[in-house]
Amino acid sequence: MVRKITDRVYCNFVNDKDITLFEGQYKLSKGMAYNSYIITDEKTAVLDTIEKSHTSEWLDGIKTVLEGKSPDYLVIHHMEPDHSASIGAFFKEYPQTTLVANAKTVSMISQFFPDTVVADTCVMTDGGKLCLGKSTLNFVFTPMVHWPEVMMSYEESEGVMFSADAFGTFGTSDADQIWDDEARRYYIGIVGKYGAQVQNALKKLSALEISVICPLHGPVITGNFAHYIQLYDKWSSYTPEKNGVCICCASVYGNTLEAAKLLKTELEKSGTEAVLFDLTTDDIHEAVANAFKYDTLVLASTTYNGAVFPAADSFIRKLAERNFKNRKVAFIENGSWAPVAAKIMKAAFDEMKGITYAETTVTVRSALSQESRQSVSELAKELSVR
Ligand SMILES: Cc1cc2nc3c(=O)[nH]c(=O)nc-3n(C[C@H](O)[C@H](O)[C@H](O)COP(=O)(O)O)c2cc1C
Ligand SMILES: [Fe+2]
Ligand SMILES: [Fe+2]
Repeated sequence: MVRKITDRVYCNFVNDKDITLFEGQYKLSKGMAYNSYIITDEKTAVLDTIEKSHTSEWLDGIKTVLEGKSPDYLVIHHMEPDHSASIGAFFKEYPQTTLVANAKTVSMISQFFPDTVVADTCVMTDGGKLCLGKSTLNFVFTPMVHWPEVMMSYEESEGVMFSADAFGTFGTSDADQIWDDEARRYYIGIVGKYGAQVQNALKKLSALEISVICPLHGPVITGNFAHYIQLYDKWSSYTPEKNGVCICCASVYGNTLEAAKLLKTELEKSGTEAVLFDLTTDDIHEAVANAFKYDTLVLASTTYNGAVFPAADSFIRKLAERNFKNRKVAFIENGSWAPVAAKIMKAAFDEMKGITYAETTVTVRSALSQESRQSVSELAKELSVR
Protein backbone atom coordinates (compact mmCIF):
# COMPACT_ATOMS: atom_id res chain seq x y z
CA MET A 1 0.00 0.00 0.00
CA VAL A 2 1.16 3.51 -0.71
CA ARG A 3 0.56 6.58 1.44
CA LYS A 4 1.76 10.12 0.79
CA ILE A 5 3.65 11.44 3.83
CA THR A 6 4.97 14.83 2.70
CA ASP A 7 5.14 16.68 -0.63
CA ARG A 8 7.93 14.40 -1.83
CA VAL A 9 7.92 11.36 0.46
CA TYR A 10 5.69 8.30 0.08
CA CYS A 11 5.46 5.30 2.39
CA ASN A 12 5.29 2.06 0.41
CA PHE A 13 4.29 -0.39 3.12
CA VAL A 14 2.78 -3.77 3.81
CA ASN A 15 0.60 -4.61 6.79
CA ASP A 16 1.18 -8.34 7.23
CA LYS A 17 -1.84 -9.48 9.26
CA ASP A 18 -1.02 -13.19 8.96
CA ILE A 19 2.35 -13.30 10.70
CA THR A 20 2.12 -14.50 14.33
CA LEU A 21 5.80 -14.78 15.30
CA PHE A 22 8.59 -12.26 14.63
CA GLU A 23 12.26 -13.29 14.46
CA GLY A 24 11.34 -16.74 15.76
CA GLN A 25 10.38 -15.60 19.27
CA TYR A 26 8.25 -12.45 19.54
CA LYS A 27 4.53 -13.19 19.53
CA LEU A 28 2.41 -11.01 17.29
CA SER A 29 -1.32 -10.73 17.91
CA LYS A 30 -1.78 -7.79 15.54
CA GLY A 31 0.60 -8.64 12.70
CA MET A 32 3.56 -6.58 11.59
CA ALA A 33 4.16 -3.60 9.30
CA TYR A 34 7.14 -3.33 6.96
CA ASN A 35 7.73 0.18 5.68
CA SER A 36 9.78 1.26 2.71
CA TYR A 37 9.84 4.87 1.47
CA ILE A 38 10.08 6.61 -1.87
CA ILE A 39 11.33 10.15 -2.48
CA THR A 40 10.21 11.79 -5.70
CA ASP A 41 12.34 14.74 -6.72
CA GLU A 42 14.55 15.60 -9.71
CA LYS A 43 16.14 12.28 -8.82
CA THR A 44 14.07 9.52 -7.24
CA ALA A 45 15.08 7.22 -4.41
CA VAL A 46 13.64 4.06 -2.88
CA LEU A 47 14.58 3.77 0.77
CA ASP A 48 14.94 0.16 1.96
CA THR A 49 13.03 -2.86 0.71
CA ILE A 50 10.68 -5.17 2.61
CA GLU A 51 10.26 -8.73 3.82
CA LYS A 52 10.23 -11.43 1.12
CA SER A 53 6.62 -12.60 1.49
CA HIS A 54 5.31 -9.32 0.01
CA THR A 55 7.96 -8.43 -2.58
CA SER A 56 5.63 -8.23 -5.57
CA GLU A 57 3.14 -5.98 -3.78
CA TRP A 58 6.05 -3.72 -2.81
CA LEU A 59 7.38 -3.60 -6.39
CA ASP A 60 3.85 -2.65 -7.53
CA GLY A 61 3.96 0.27 -5.06
CA ILE A 62 7.18 1.56 -6.64
CA LYS A 63 5.62 1.33 -10.13
CA THR A 64 2.55 3.26 -8.97
CA VAL A 65 4.49 6.11 -7.35
CA LEU A 66 7.14 6.44 -10.06
CA GLU A 67 4.62 5.83 -12.85
CA GLY A 68 6.74 3.04 -14.29
CA LYS A 69 10.04 4.97 -14.33
CA SER A 70 13.20 3.42 -12.88
CA PRO A 71 14.31 4.80 -9.53
CA ASP A 72 17.68 6.55 -9.60
CA TYR A 73 18.77 5.27 -6.18
CA LEU A 74 18.11 2.42 -3.78
CA VAL A 75 19.18 3.45 -0.27
CA ILE A 76 19.75 0.63 2.23
CA HIS A 77 19.78 1.70 5.88
CA HIS A 78 19.69 -1.77 7.43
CA MET A 79 20.47 -5.25 6.15
CA GLU A 80 18.26 -7.34 8.40
CA PRO A 81 16.14 -9.48 6.05
CA ASP A 82 12.83 -7.97 7.17
CA HIS A 83 14.03 -4.88 5.25
CA SER A 84 16.55 -6.20 2.77
CA ALA A 85 15.02 -9.45 1.50
CA SER A 86 13.68 -7.84 -1.66
CA ILE A 87 17.03 -6.36 -2.82
CA GLY A 88 17.63 -9.22 -5.29
CA ALA A 89 14.17 -8.83 -6.85
CA PHE A 90 14.64 -5.04 -6.97
CA PHE A 91 17.85 -5.22 -8.98
CA LYS A 92 16.32 -7.77 -11.35
CA GLU A 93 13.60 -5.24 -12.08
CA TYR A 94 15.84 -2.14 -12.00
CA PRO A 95 19.44 -3.17 -12.90
CA GLN A 96 20.49 0.43 -13.65
CA THR A 97 19.60 1.86 -10.22
CA THR A 98 22.53 3.09 -8.09
CA LEU A 99 22.86 1.45 -4.70
CA VAL A 100 23.49 3.85 -1.81
CA ALA A 101 24.91 2.03 1.19
CA ASN A 102 27.86 2.07 3.55
CA ALA A 103 30.85 -0.27 3.17
CA LYS A 104 29.57 -2.77 5.76
CA THR A 105 26.20 -2.95 4.01
CA VAL A 106 27.83 -3.45 0.61
CA SER A 107 29.72 -6.50 1.89
CA MET A 108 26.58 -7.88 3.53
CA ILE A 109 24.64 -7.50 0.28
CA SER A 110 27.16 -9.75 -1.44
CA GLN A 111 26.75 -12.26 1.43
CA PHE A 112 22.95 -12.28 1.32
CA PHE A 113 22.69 -11.97 -2.48
CA PRO A 114 25.71 -13.71 -4.01
CA ASP A 115 24.01 -13.86 -7.40
CA THR A 116 22.87 -10.25 -7.57
CA VAL A 117 24.90 -7.90 -9.73
CA VAL A 118 24.86 -4.27 -8.63
CA ALA A 119 26.00 -2.12 -11.54
CA ASP A 120 26.69 1.09 -9.66
CA THR A 121 27.26 1.78 -5.96
CA CYS A 122 27.60 5.04 -4.06
CA VAL A 123 29.44 4.14 -0.85
CA MET A 124 28.08 6.36 1.90
CA THR A 125 30.18 7.67 4.78
CA ASP A 126 29.03 8.90 8.21
CA GLY A 127 27.91 12.50 7.69
CA GLY A 128 27.68 11.99 3.93
CA LYS A 129 24.92 13.57 1.83
CA LEU A 130 22.84 12.56 -1.16
CA CYS A 131 21.21 15.40 -3.10
CA LEU A 132 18.06 14.51 -5.03
CA GLY A 133 17.05 18.04 -6.10
CA LYS A 134 15.15 20.02 -3.47
CA SER A 135 15.65 17.11 -1.08
CA THR A 136 18.98 16.23 0.51
CA LEU A 137 19.52 13.15 2.62
CA ASN A 138 22.08 13.48 5.43
CA PHE A 139 23.39 10.15 6.64
CA VAL A 140 24.12 9.37 10.28
CA PHE A 141 25.74 6.06 11.18
CA THR A 142 23.98 4.45 14.15
CA PRO A 143 25.81 1.15 14.62
CA MET A 144 24.12 -1.56 16.71
CA VAL A 145 20.69 0.03 16.54
CA HIS A 146 20.60 -2.83 16.15
CA TRP A 147 22.98 -4.29 13.57
CA PRO A 148 26.50 -2.94 12.97
CA GLU A 149 25.80 -1.49 9.51
CA VAL A 150 22.70 0.50 10.48
CA MET A 151 22.47 4.12 9.42
CA MET A 152 19.65 6.62 9.55
CA SER A 153 19.09 9.55 7.25
CA TYR A 154 17.59 12.99 7.65
CA GLU A 155 15.99 14.78 4.74
CA GLU A 156 16.70 18.40 5.56
CA SER A 157 14.24 20.31 3.35
CA GLU A 158 11.15 18.67 4.86
CA GLY A 159 12.63 17.57 8.21
CA VAL A 160 12.00 13.87 7.60
CA MET A 161 13.89 11.41 9.78
CA PHE A 162 14.31 7.95 8.29
CA SER A 163 15.03 6.16 11.55
CA ALA A 164 15.50 2.51 10.44
CA ASP A 165 14.27 0.15 13.21
CA ALA A 166 14.25 2.94 15.83
CA PHE A 167 10.76 4.15 16.74
CA GLY A 168 9.28 1.00 15.21
CA THR A 169 6.64 -1.20 16.81
CA PHE A 170 5.15 -4.63 16.55
CA GLY A 171 1.68 -4.66 15.02
CA THR A 172 0.42 -3.37 11.69
CA SER A 173 0.40 0.39 11.23
CA ASP A 174 -3.42 0.43 11.48
CA ALA A 175 -3.55 -1.82 14.58
CA ASP A 176 -5.73 -0.71 17.47
CA GLN A 177 -2.99 -0.74 20.10
CA ILE A 178 -1.09 1.54 22.46
CA TRP A 179 2.12 2.70 20.75
CA ASP A 180 4.13 2.87 23.98
CA ASP A 181 3.38 -0.76 24.88
CA GLU A 182 4.17 -2.36 21.53
CA ALA A 183 7.15 -0.07 20.89
CA ARG A 184 8.51 -0.96 24.32
CA ARG A 185 8.11 -4.70 23.74
CA TYR A 186 9.77 -4.28 20.34
CA TYR A 187 12.62 -2.07 21.61
CA ILE A 188 13.40 -4.02 24.80
CA GLY A 189 13.12 -7.34 22.98
CA ILE A 190 15.20 -6.51 19.95
CA VAL A 191 17.47 -3.56 20.79
CA GLY A 192 17.47 -3.67 24.62
CA LYS A 193 21.08 -4.85 24.88
CA TYR A 194 22.39 -1.82 22.99
CA GLY A 195 21.35 1.06 25.25
CA ALA A 196 24.75 2.79 25.02
CA GLN A 197 24.60 2.78 21.21
CA VAL A 198 21.03 4.11 21.24
CA GLN A 199 22.15 6.91 23.58
CA ASN A 200 24.88 7.79 21.05
CA ALA A 201 22.32 7.81 18.25
CA LEU A 202 19.95 10.05 20.25
CA LYS A 203 22.80 12.53 20.82
CA LYS A 204 23.50 12.65 17.08
CA LEU A 205 19.80 13.24 16.34
CA SER A 206 19.14 15.79 19.07
CA ALA A 207 20.21 18.80 16.99
CA LEU A 208 17.87 18.00 14.10
CA GLU A 209 14.56 19.73 13.54
CA ILE A 210 12.19 16.85 12.90
CA SER A 211 8.74 17.13 11.33
CA VAL A 212 8.14 13.43 10.59
CA ILE A 213 9.76 10.20 11.82
CA CYS A 214 9.62 7.41 9.25
CA PRO A 215 10.49 4.09 10.92
CA LEU A 216 10.78 0.74 9.15
CA HIS A 217 7.94 -0.75 11.25
CA GLY A 218 4.63 0.56 12.56
CA PRO A 219 3.03 3.95 12.13
CA VAL A 220 4.75 7.03 10.72
CA ILE A 221 5.14 9.54 13.57
CA THR A 222 3.92 13.04 12.79
CA GLY A 223 3.91 14.86 16.14
CA ASN A 224 4.46 14.73 19.90
CA PHE A 225 8.12 13.88 19.21
CA ALA A 226 9.27 14.75 22.73
CA HIS A 227 7.14 11.88 24.09
CA TYR A 228 8.69 9.27 21.82
CA ILE A 229 12.24 10.55 22.22
CA GLN A 230 11.86 10.70 26.00
CA LEU A 231 10.71 7.05 26.02
CA TYR A 232 13.71 6.04 23.91
CA ASP A 233 15.97 7.99 26.24
CA LYS A 234 14.54 6.16 29.28
CA TRP A 235 14.69 2.73 27.71
CA SER A 236 18.23 3.16 26.43
CA SER A 237 19.53 4.63 29.69
CA TYR A 238 17.89 1.78 31.68
CA THR A 239 15.81 4.30 33.62
CA PRO A 240 12.43 3.03 34.87
CA GLU A 241 9.40 4.70 33.32
CA LYS A 242 7.16 4.28 36.36
CA ASN A 243 7.12 3.64 40.07
CA GLY A 244 5.43 0.31 40.50
CA VAL A 245 6.00 -3.40 40.84
CA CYS A 246 6.26 -5.95 38.07
CA ILE A 247 5.63 -9.40 39.55
CA CYS A 248 6.74 -12.35 37.42
CA CYS A 249 5.94 -15.85 38.57
CA ALA A 250 6.85 -19.41 37.55
CA SER A 251 4.87 -22.07 39.37
CA VAL A 252 4.24 -25.80 38.78
CA TYR A 253 1.12 -26.43 40.87
CA GLY A 254 -0.03 -22.86 41.46
CA ASN A 255 0.99 -22.25 45.09
CA THR A 256 3.73 -19.78 44.21
CA LEU A 257 1.26 -18.06 41.90
CA GLU A 258 -1.15 -17.73 44.86
CA ALA A 259 1.58 -15.93 46.80
CA ALA A 260 2.28 -13.67 43.80
CA LYS A 261 -1.44 -12.83 43.46
CA LEU A 262 -1.65 -12.07 47.16
CA LEU A 263 1.31 -9.70 46.85
CA LYS A 264 -0.38 -7.90 43.94
CA THR A 265 -3.60 -7.50 45.96
CA GLU A 266 -1.75 -6.15 48.99
CA LEU A 267 0.29 -3.73 46.89
CA GLU A 268 -2.81 -2.41 45.18
CA LYS A 269 -4.57 -2.04 48.54
CA SER A 270 -1.80 0.29 49.57
CA GLY A 271 -2.11 2.28 46.33
CA THR A 272 0.99 0.85 44.64
CA GLU A 273 0.70 0.03 40.94
CA ALA A 274 1.41 -3.65 40.30
CA VAL A 275 1.26 -5.96 37.28
CA LEU A 276 1.50 -9.75 37.36
CA PHE A 277 2.80 -12.12 34.68
CA ASP A 278 2.57 -15.89 34.80
CA LEU A 279 5.80 -16.84 33.05
CA THR A 280 4.45 -20.29 32.17
CA THR A 281 1.48 -18.98 30.17
CA ASP A 282 1.83 -15.26 29.44
CA ASP A 283 4.02 -13.77 26.72
CA ILE A 284 7.49 -13.83 28.29
CA HIS A 285 8.66 -10.82 26.24
CA GLU A 286 5.72 -8.78 27.51
CA ALA A 287 6.93 -9.68 31.01
CA VAL A 288 10.51 -8.67 30.12
CA ALA A 289 9.29 -5.33 28.73
CA ASN A 290 7.30 -4.66 31.92
CA ALA A 291 10.30 -5.54 34.09
CA PHE A 292 12.05 -2.66 32.30
CA LYS A 293 9.01 -0.37 32.59
CA TYR A 294 8.73 -0.43 36.41
CA ASP A 295 11.29 0.43 39.06
CA THR A 296 10.70 -2.78 41.06
CA LEU A 297 10.69 -6.42 40.02
CA VAL A 298 9.47 -9.32 42.14
CA LEU A 299 10.44 -12.69 40.79
CA ALA A 300 8.62 -15.72 42.20
CA SER A 301 9.69 -19.28 41.46
CA THR A 302 9.17 -22.80 42.56
CA THR A 303 12.38 -24.67 43.51
CA TYR A 304 12.83 -27.29 40.84
CA ASN A 305 15.48 -30.03 41.02
CA GLY A 306 17.66 -27.87 43.23
CA ALA A 307 17.31 -24.94 40.81
CA VAL A 308 14.70 -22.44 39.66
CA PHE A 309 11.77 -23.42 37.46
CA PRO A 310 12.74 -23.34 33.73
CA ALA A 311 10.40 -20.46 32.86
CA ALA A 312 12.01 -18.30 35.58
CA ASP A 313 15.48 -19.35 34.45
CA SER A 314 14.69 -18.36 30.87
CA PHE A 315 13.21 -15.04 32.05
CA ILE A 316 16.35 -14.16 34.04
CA ARG A 317 18.53 -14.98 31.05
CA LYS A 318 16.41 -12.72 28.85
CA LEU A 319 16.84 -9.87 31.35
CA ALA A 320 20.61 -10.42 31.56
CA GLU A 321 20.93 -10.52 27.75
CA ARG A 322 19.26 -7.09 27.63
CA ASN A 323 21.51 -5.54 30.31
CA PHE A 324 18.74 -5.30 32.92
CA LYS A 325 19.95 -2.92 35.63
CA ASN A 326 19.10 -0.08 38.02
CA ARG A 327 16.08 -1.75 39.60
CA LYS A 328 14.95 -2.95 43.01
CA VAL A 329 14.43 -6.71 43.06
CA ALA A 330 12.68 -9.04 45.52
CA PHE A 331 12.08 -12.78 45.53
CA ILE A 332 9.38 -15.25 46.40
CA GLU A 333 10.50 -18.87 46.47
CA ASN A 334 8.71 -22.12 47.08
CA GLY A 335 9.98 -25.60 47.96
CA SER A 336 8.61 -28.67 49.71
CA TRP A 337 11.88 -29.99 51.12
CA ALA A 338 14.86 -27.71 50.36
CA PRO A 339 13.83 -24.33 48.88
CA VAL A 340 16.81 -22.72 47.13
CA ALA A 341 15.18 -20.73 44.31
CA ALA A 342 15.69 -17.30 45.96
CA LYS A 343 19.40 -17.90 46.53
CA ILE A 344 19.90 -19.00 42.93
CA MET A 345 17.88 -16.10 41.52
CA LYS A 346 19.82 -13.61 43.64
CA ALA A 347 23.15 -14.98 42.38
CA ALA A 348 21.99 -14.25 38.83
CA PHE A 349 20.94 -10.68 39.67
CA ASP A 350 24.25 -10.10 41.53
CA GLU A 351 25.87 -10.22 38.07
CA MET A 352 23.77 -7.27 36.89
CA LYS A 353 24.60 -3.63 37.62
CA GLY A 354 22.70 -1.28 39.92
CA ILE A 355 20.44 -3.89 41.50
CA THR A 356 19.24 -3.31 45.05
CA TYR A 357 17.28 -5.91 46.98
CA ALA A 358 14.25 -5.77 49.25
CA GLU A 359 14.99 -6.89 52.79
CA THR A 360 12.12 -9.36 52.76
CA THR A 361 12.40 -12.62 50.86
CA VAL A 362 9.25 -14.73 50.95
CA THR A 363 9.67 -18.47 51.37
CA VAL A 364 6.58 -20.61 50.84
CA ARG A 365 6.83 -24.22 51.95
CA SER A 366 4.46 -26.00 49.57
CA ALA A 367 1.32 -23.91 50.17
CA LEU A 368 0.68 -20.47 51.67
CA SER A 369 0.62 -20.58 55.47
CA GLN A 370 -0.12 -17.94 58.06
CA GLU A 371 3.61 -17.31 58.31
CA SER A 372 4.22 -16.98 54.58
CA ARG A 373 1.12 -14.77 54.17
CA GLN A 374 2.62 -12.53 56.86
CA SER A 375 5.88 -12.48 54.93
CA VAL A 376 4.04 -11.47 51.73
CA SER A 377 2.40 -8.61 53.70
CA GLU A 378 5.80 -7.47 54.94
CA LEU A 379 7.16 -7.47 51.40
CA ALA A 380 4.12 -5.50 50.18
CA LYS A 381 4.63 -2.98 52.96
CA GLU A 382 8.31 -2.62 52.14
CA LEU A 383 7.68 -2.13 48.42
CA SER A 384 4.89 0.37 49.04
CA VAL A 385 7.15 2.82 50.85
CA ARG A 386 8.45 5.25 48.26
C1 LIG B 1 10.34 -32.04 39.17
C2 LIG B 1 10.28 -31.34 40.50
C3 LIG B 1 11.42 -31.04 41.16
C4 LIG B 1 11.39 -30.42 42.41
N1 LIG B 1 12.55 -30.12 43.05
C5 LIG B 1 12.51 -29.56 44.28
C6 LIG B 1 13.70 -29.26 45.00
O1 LIG B 1 14.78 -29.45 44.48
N2 LIG B 1 13.62 -28.72 46.23
C7 LIG B 1 12.39 -28.48 46.81
O2 LIG B 1 12.34 -27.98 47.94
N3 LIG B 1 11.24 -28.74 46.16
C8 LIG B 1 11.28 -29.26 44.92
N4 LIG B 1 10.13 -29.55 44.24
C9 LIG B 1 8.86 -29.31 44.92
C10 LIG B 1 8.25 -27.96 44.58
O3 LIG B 1 9.20 -26.93 44.65
C11 LIG B 1 7.20 -27.70 45.64
O4 LIG B 1 6.23 -28.73 45.63
C12 LIG B 1 6.51 -26.34 45.52
O5 LIG B 1 5.59 -26.22 46.58
C13 LIG B 1 5.74 -26.20 44.22
O6 LIG B 1 5.24 -24.89 44.16
P1 LIG B 1 4.10 -24.51 43.13
O7 LIG B 1 2.79 -25.01 43.67
O8 LIG B 1 4.11 -23.04 43.03
O9 LIG B 1 4.48 -25.17 41.86
C14 LIG B 1 10.13 -30.12 42.98
C15 LIG B 1 8.97 -30.39 42.27
C16 LIG B 1 9.02 -30.97 41.03
C17 LIG B 1 7.74 -31.21 40.28
FE1 LIG C 1 16.45 -4.89 12.53
FE1 LIG D 1 13.22 -4.48 11.48
